[in-house]
Amino acid sequence: MKKNSLIILASIIFTIIVSCKQETYFQGRLLYEDYCQNCHMEDGTGLRGIIPPLKGSDFLKNNQNALVCLIRKGSQGGLTINGSKYTQPMPGNANLTQGDIANIINYINHAWDNNYGVILYDDVLKQFETCR
Ligand code: HEC
Repeated sequence: MKKNSLIILASIIFTIIVSCKQETYFQGRLLYEDYCQNCHMEDGTGLRGIIPPLKGSDFLKNNQNALVCLIRKGSQGGLTINGSKYTQPMPGNANLTQGDIANIINYINHAWDNNYGVILYDDVLKQFETCR
């Protein structure tokens, strides 16, 4: 009996460790599905000519210090991404917390073969202050 519960406990711990490893940015992915995926698509490629891609986006890569405000306040339209100009506006997300935004950025920075680095929670707080 005791041995059995030990085995069960060990397999639960094992499962938790394995699932953590597979999904480093799990929380960010869930938020992305709720708040971003409708437009930017599950595979991050957007909608040609209308919604810019996040996968392989030069804008995302080069504007890491402007992402918090962009996600929070939205964007008017007129950004150029990978050489194409987009004219549609992006709505803001005033209800997302600093933690939510950090999780989302870290997810999109690493999803779809992107490798744009980790944003620290501290940096998110600093950016957040500039666009209340
Ligand atoms: C209603 C559709 C819509 C939703 C929802 C949306 N976006 Fe956007 N997003 C856009 C459009 C359109 C642009 C281009 C805006 C511009 O040109 O000013 C854009 C631009 C961007 C950009 C900069 C350009 C690029 O492709 O790198 C990023 C980063 C971004 N969105 C991330 C997000 C994230 C993260 C979310 C979820 C929190 C989100 N968006 C939700 C439509 C949307």
